This record gives sequence, structure tokens and C-alpha cells, in this order.
Amino acid sequence: MENNNKGLMLMVFSFFFCSMPTFSRQNYFTTIAPNQFMQYGDTLVSAAGMYEAGFFNFGDSQRQYFGIWYKKISPRTIVWVANRNTPVHNSAAMLKLNDQGSLVILDGSKGVIWSSNSTRIVVKSVVQLLDSGNLILKDANGSQNFLWESFDYPGNTFLPGMKLKSNLVTGPYRYLTSWRSPQDPAEGECSYRIDMPGFPQLVTAKGATVLYRGGSWNGFLFSSVSWHWQVTNKVMNFTVVFNDKEFSYEYQTVNKSIIARMILDPYGNSQRFLWSDSTQIWKAISSRPADQCDDYSLCGINSNCNINEFPVCECVEGFMPKFELQWESSDWSGGCLRRTKLNCLNGDGFLKYTNMKLPDTSSSYYNKSFSLEECKTMCLKNCSCTAYANSDIRDGGSGCLLWFNNIMDMRKHPDVGQDIYIRLASSELGYIKKLFRWKDRKEKEDTNLATIFDFSTINNATNNFSDTNKLGEGGFGPVYKGLMVDGQEIAVKRLSKTSGQGSEEFKNEVKLMATLQHRNLVKLLGCSIQQDEKLLIYEFMPNRSLDYFIFDTTLSKLLDWTKRLEIIDGISRGLLYLHQDSTLRIIHRDLKTSNILLDIDMIPKISDFGLARSFMGDQAEANTNRVMGTYGYMPPEYAVHGSFSIKSDVFSFGVVVLEIISGRKNRGFSDPQHHLNLLGHAWRLWIEQRPEELLADILYDNDISSKIIRFIHVGLLCVQQKPENRPNMSSVVFMLKGENLLPKPSKPGFYAGGDDTNSVGSPSIYEASMSFLEAR
Ligand SMILES: *[C@@H]1O[C@H](CO)[C@@H](O)[C@H](O)[C@H]1NC(C)=O
Ligand SMILES: *[C@@H]1O[C@H](CO)[C@@H](O)[C@H](O)[C@H]1NC(C)=O
Ligand SMILES: *[C@@H]1O[C@H](CO)[C@@H](O)[C@H](O)[C@H]1NC(C)=O
Ligand SMILES: *[C@@H]1O[C@H](CO)[C@@H](O)[C@H](O)[C@H]1NC(C)=O
Ligand SMILES: *[C@@H]1O[C@H](CO)[C@@H](O)[C@H](O)[C@H]1NC(C)=O
Ligand SMILES: *[C@@H]1O[C@H](CO)[C@@H](O)[C@H](O)[C@H]1NC(C)=O
Ligand SMILES: *[C@@H]1O[C@H](CO)[C@@H](O)[C@H](O)[C@H]1NC(C)=O
Ligand SMILES: *[C@@H]1O[C@H](CO)[C@@H](O)[C@H](O)[C@H]1NC(C)=O
Ligand SMILES: *[C@@H]1O[C@H](CO)[C@@H](O)[C@H](O)[C@H]1NC(C)=O
Ligand SMILES: *[C@@H]1O[C@H](CO)[C@@H](O)[C@H](O)[C@H]1NC(C)=O
Repeated sequence: MENNNKGLMLMVFSFFFCSMPTFSRQNYFTTIAPNQFMQYGDTLVSAAGMYEAGFFNFGDSQRQYFGIWYKKISPRTIVWVANRNTPVHNSAAMLKLNDQGSLVILDGSKGVIWSSNSTRIVVKSVVQLLDSGNLILKDANGSQNFLWESFDYPGNTFLPGMKLKSNLVTGPYRYLTSWRSPQDPAEGECSYRIDMPGFPQLVTAKGATVLYRGGSWNGFLFSSVSWHWQVTNKVMNFTVVFNDKEFSYEYQTVNKSIIARMILDPYGNSQRFLWSDSTQIWKAISSRPADQCDDYSLCGINSNCNINEFPVCECVEGFMPKFELQWESSDWSGGCLRRTKLNCLNGDGFLKYTNMKLPDTSSSYYNKSFSLEECKTMCLKNCSCTAYANSDIRDGGSGCLLWFNNIMDMRKHPDVGQDIYIRLASSELGYIKKLFRWKDRKEKEDTNLATIFDFSTINNATNNFSDTNKLGEGGFGPVYKGLMVDGQEIAVKRLSKTSGQGSEEFKNEVKLMATLQHRNLVKLLGCSIQQDEKLLIYEFMPNRSLDYFIFDTTLSKLLDWTKRLEIIDGISRGLLYLHQDSTLRIIHRDLKTSNILLDIDMIPKISDFGLARSFMGDQAEANTNRVMGTYGYMPPEYAVHGSFSIKSDVFSFGVVVLEIISGRKNRGFSDPQHHLNLLGHAWRLWIEQRPEELLADILYDNDISSKIIRFIHVGLLCVQQKPENRPNMSSVVFMLKGENLLPKPSKPGFYAGGDDTNSVGSPSIYEASMSFLEAR
């Protein structure tokens, strides 16, 4: 029984006594001879008492199966089932040898419901259960040749010493098949098998659809097995026999006292377990597929999957996405196409990729006697050959594997991996060499700067990301407060797990923030990347964000004019740093009041760099067909035409200035007389020479009033409709400080007054950062 609880056992037993024909004996067999039979309750035990076989059922189900399990392990772990598709219902099942020497299971009316179908007839045969878990039928004369063995008919469990054996000449091909469910051992849809076409490889499949590729045999292991684990925990070894007649695969535990098994679960996951004597549980040591990159062909053709990158899919160098837009939105199934056609006869070369899990070999050619050099020559001779590699990596490598046309399902190996050479036009190779040198340098710069935190540390620091720790919701996911073990307070931005969207933004933010340092920019402390969890860790800002104060009637009183002007000044300096003083030239693209955080001394810090773009050299303007940002802060040329530049940020800054001074939100504000938005309202008050009416209801004295008016003036200059009229940030900083005369502002963008021919309504009521595709 699967339960140790005595009461329950009693209940189950009495249930059987009532509903099944009674049996009066309970026998322990070590062998079964032709005159013997087994019934429910009888068991056949292996010599050293490792395994046990007999009839069993699941829970209180009345379906009876004949199966094998570990004698000493509880709860009962079934490793093989004879009549998996044909349970005996409601009657007394019986197992025996029939007159033809086959092992059969009979139901209550003596009908044969399962047979081993042994074909060799002998005078006297005998059934035995070996200590490997193999149930065998052999000649009683002492011959060591088995007439039949259960290891030839695997179910969902792969045991040490069992062989997945394919006879390449005559068949059959042996493989594991999943159960339908944990309570139903009938043959399920999933299989774990060696696929023979091309160069043999290990796959798990659901029906005919490949789910995961364990990869090809490299003379040592299947190529996707983690070598690191194998080397450091030497508990198993793997053996493959691969010749013209046979492919077989088996594994052994190195120490016989280790109990190991592998199962294929009903969903197609292959899982390895070791029995832990001390804790009395099965310890899962691996499960495949293990991550996104293990999903077969996730990235489409001619691509590479790298679980440590965002996004995980990238085109092989020299290739580009077939469908750019889908690719950008994380639908990589279209794969990649060659940028430059192969020359074929001469003028092609190869680019070496190291540490790879080799691509799908189901259409590959191989010859085990070629060297790598011969392999290359062979590939160059055939115009459709696109890649080559050694087929065996032992002793420095030998043998030849070739791929034709497109390659599929290649990934960066989790630890060691192999080398593969991918064919490219020579012109492409020259270009890539240069690119690599540049990337190499850049990669170093990027990764050296950001601290990587362990996910568990951050999980712990945020109380498992509890709701009570939640500070708010950002553009790409929630933000939490955390407390590190050393007492440091942190803010953690957790990018939404499921949407592939935001990955680019994550990578972008890490790269940019790691290189930026300024008193008016929020400081990134590090990041955490673990499978599909992406976290950004910032210094914690105890006074939240600016919008929290200025748009609240009570809290706004806490920010007097001196403080407000200091905050505006701080923001202008942060932005100036981004635009001009940092080594990169950065456009923030999502500057808004809610992205200005306040530290303990109310010093403003610009945050949220998910949409920021860096520019090289003198490039001052760019176009995008994916407009992202927040309505109310976007200038017209960006919202309408997708064109952005440093002057887009200047516009957003102007909006923030006017919001801080008026205590009103640009979006949602409508002046009572003219139905103008905040910018229009400020403009009208300005030209009507009563700008002081814009001021929030906070006391001020005359000393500061002229300064406030100057700030309004600068704000209006920043929100002018034409980007070329807006000042740059160095001028802004200068104007805020200076006493010299300022130019006259012209009308603002999105001015909805009567004389405006370019007026644009506000199309959304949503305040968070958003993106939409602009039809162009
Ligand atoms: C034995 O042969 C019968 C008849 O051909 C078939 O239905 C049955 O599935 C076979 N049993 C096994 C275990 O292969
Ligand atoms: C046992 O019988 C088999 C035939 O089933 C025969 O091949 C073998 O030689 C015999 N072995 C002995 C030891 O008699
Ligand atoms: C694997 O380990 C078993 C048990 O230690 C040993 O008998 C066998 O020779 C080993 N096989 C290989 C290929 O190392
Ligand atoms: C096998 O494992 C057992 C138990 O861990 C240990 O006592 C024994 O020394 C091991 N044997 C070998 C050959 O490593
Ligand atoms: C592999 O190459 C060797 C040496 O060139 C050749 O003799 C052999 O026929 C080739 N094998 C196959 C399967 O093509
Ligand atoms: C190139 O290889 C492909 C795939 O093996 C084969 O079908 C084709 O005939 C070869 N072409 C030449 C010119 O050898
Ligand atoms: C988790 O947090 C507690 C208290 O906050 C601390 O004692 C413990 O060391 C932390 N564990 C880890 C793994 O950070
Ligand atoms: C976090 O989750 C783990 C596992 O689910 C649990 O053991 C732990 O108590 C949780 N910690 C908190 C602070 O909720
Ligand atoms: C800012 O935060 C600090 C520390 O929490 C607090 O003492 C101070 O009162 C806050 N300032 C405002 C204006 O809320
Ligand atoms: C900013 O604008 C001023 C005035 O137009 C100009 O002199 C200055 O060169 C500009 N600075 C930059 C970095 O473009």
C-alpha cells in the first residue's frame, strides 16, 4: 500500500476482501515454475531483496496491474507494469507460464489479458526477478540466455543497466513511453527515444512533435547533458554502442549502493532521481527540459539560444530575423535568414562557435573516420552544406558531422559544449571580426559594472515579494521594498515574468544604469537574472516620488517654493548629465513627475531608464515606429511621427516644471473657461501677463516670486511646439540660474487653443508608460 497509516491500510484491505474473490494465501516467490501461479498478495522477490513484483492497484481503484517496485522503498515506487494498457477489473487476476512457455496474465474467467508472447519454446522455463529490476524468463537448464526480459519493453522508467536498444537492421527500436497520468500507467503520448535519421540523437517527443532534444552522442555524453554535474558528482556513467547494426544506450551507477532511476512524466519531462537513505525521499537531480532554451526550436532556424542573455534568442552572426517585428516582440519562431548569400565555389569561410549544444542532426551526414580538416573540405565541396563539427570529442576530436541548409535548435551549452563551424560568405566574416572586437570590449564594460544578486537573497529581502512590501507598479512590473541582511534598504523592480516584453528594456536599463553616476540619477545597485525572473535593485528612496507630494492637497504643503525650485534645478542637472556629460549620450524618453524619486533629503533622482536610448557620436535624432512613453509628457513630433531627440526630453522636462509649479497634472487638467490643457492654460496666462495665477496654493514671499516666474518662462520655452525652438539642457541649466534676458516663448505643443491648426487631442486615459505601434 502506498500509505503507512495503519487505519487506512486496514480499510483498504477490508475493501479488497469484500469486493474481490477471497484469497487465502500470500506467497513469496523467488522463481515461478510452469506449475506455479501468482495472485493478488503474492510477491516475487529478487535475490538480494532489492525489487519485488506482484499485483497492485492505485489507491482504491479496482484495476489490477502486475508490476515491479522497490522492495525497501516507501511509498511504493513502480518501475515497470506488465499489463499497463489492460488492467484486470473486479476479478481475481493470475500470473503464470502457459503451455507455450509465455508469461501470461489471466483474468477471473481465465481469459488471457496480457502475454509476453515469447516465441522460443523450451522444455522447461522459469521466471525470475533480477536485482537490477529486470523480470526475466529463461530455460530452467541453467542457460544464461533469456527467452524474454522486461528490460526489452520499457515503460516510463529507465533503470541502471537497462538498454534503450535499436537494431538498425531489423528493428525493433526500444524507447520509453510516458504514463497517461500518475494513476494510470497506460501508454501516454510522450516518448523518450533515440531518433535514428541522420546522426542519432536523444529526443523527447509528444506524438510526432519533438519537445526537447538531449542532443547527439559525442563519444562521452549526449551533448546537452551537464558535464559539470557529471564530473563533480561522479555517480553515473553512460555507455553507448553505435555501429552499423546497433545503437544502444545505457547508464550505470558507479557505486552499486546508489539507487537511481529516470522517468518520463506524463507531460514529457525526463527526470532523474536518486534515493536518499537519510531523508527517505527521492531527490530530483535533473529535469529536462530545464529552461526556455531547452524548448525545441524556440528560436527558429539559424539562431542561437542563450539563457543568460535577454532576449534569449539571437540570430547566428551574419543572419538576421526573418520577421523583424515578431522577433522584436519575442516571437522567434520565424528564425533568421542569411544576410549575405553564400558564394559557394570559393569565397566562403567558417565562423567558429564554441561551447555549443550542436543543432538538430536529424538531416546530418556523418563519417566517423574523417578528421576535422577533411570535414571542412567536404563541407566546402557541397553548396548546401552550412556547418560542420567533430562527431566525437574524445582525444582532441575526431569524425565529421555536416549540416545542410538551415540549422535548428542550437543553444549555448550550460557548461561545456562543443565547437561548431558555421559557413558564411567571406565578406560577412570580415565584417563580423570587426564587430566581435567591438562587442567584446563592450560586453566587458557592461558586465563589469553591474553587481549580480542571487534571486533567493532578494526574495528573502522582500518577504517573498509580499504585497505588504509592494511600493507600486512601474511600466514593466511591480516595485517592492526590501531589507537586506546587512540592514540596507532597497527597491526592487520585478519585470513581469510571462511577457517577453520588457526583456529588452531590462537589459537596456542594466547596461545604461551601470555606467551612469550622478547625484540626480537613481543608483542601480545591481540586478538578478534567474531563468525567467529579472530583477533590478536600486537604492531605496524613502520619500517616494514627486507626484506623490505635488498632486496631493495635504502633502503638497510640505514642499515649499525653495524646495520646489531646488527640485527643478536638480532634475535639470540630472538631465543635462544624461544628454551631454555622461560618456554615453542618453535620451530618457519617459521623463515624468512619477519617475522623479526623492531621497531622504528630498533631493530628486531621475529613475526608470527602461526606454532610454543611448546615441553614438553626433547623432541627435532618431525615428522609431514603436512609440513608447507616457501621454501628457510626449512632444507632438514624437507622439505623432515617432521622431525623438534630446529635445523630446526637454519637452517632458518643461511639462514637469509646469506641473511642479502649478501642482496640477498636465493630463486630466482642463481649464474651466477655455478647456485648455495645462500647457495651454500656462501659455494663455503668460501672454495675458498674469503668470502668478498658475502658482500652486503655497505661500510665497516677494523675494522668490520673480524666480518662480523665471522658472515658468523656462518651462514654457521647453514645451514649445517646434523642437528646434526648445533650448538644450545646458541652456536650461544656465537660464534657471542666470539673470540675463530670456527669449520669448512661442506657443506650446499640444496647445488646444482656437488658433491652433495642429491641435491633437489626448487619446488615452492611461497614466502608466505605454507603447503602441504607429501606422506609417
Ligand atoms: C502479444 O501478442 C498479441 C497478439 O498479437 C498482442 O495483441 C499483444 O499486444 C502482445 N503482447 C505484448 C506484451 O506485446
Ligand atoms: C539449455 O537449453 C538451451 C535451449 O533452450 C540450449 O541452447 C543450451 O545449450 C542448454 N544449456 C544447457 C547448459 O544445457
Ligand atoms: C560504469 O560503471 C560500472 C560500475 O562501476 C562499471 O562496471 C562500468 O565498467 C563503467 N562503465 C564505463 C563505460 O565506465
Ligand atoms: C559506495 O557507497 C557506500 C555508501 O555511501 C560507501 O560506504 C562505499 O564506500 C562506496 N563504495 C565505493 C566503491 O565507493
Ligand atoms: C567514410 O570515409 C571513409 C574514408 O574516406 C570511406 O572509406 C567510407 O566509405 C566513408 N563512410 C561513409 C559511410 O561514407
Ligand atoms: C550535397 O549534400 C546533399 C545532402 O547530403 C545531397 O543531397 C546533395 O546531393 C549534395 N550535393 C553535391 C553536389 O554533392
Ligand atoms: C533571510 O532573512 C533573514 C532575516 O531577514 C536572515 O536571517 C537570513 O540570513 C536571510 N537568508 C538569506 C538566504 O539571505
Ligand atoms: C517564503 O517562501 C518560502 C517557501 O515558499 C517559505 O518557506 C518562507 O517561510 C516564506 N517566507 C516569508 C517571509 O514569507
Ligand atoms: C523624507 O524621509 C525622511 C526619512 O523617512 C523623513 O524623515 C522626512 O520627513 C521625509 N520628508 C518629507 C517631506 O516627507
Ligand atoms: C546648447 O545651445 C546653445 C545655445 O543655442 C549652444 O551655444 C550650445 O552649443 C548648445 N550646446 C550643445 C551641447 O549643443
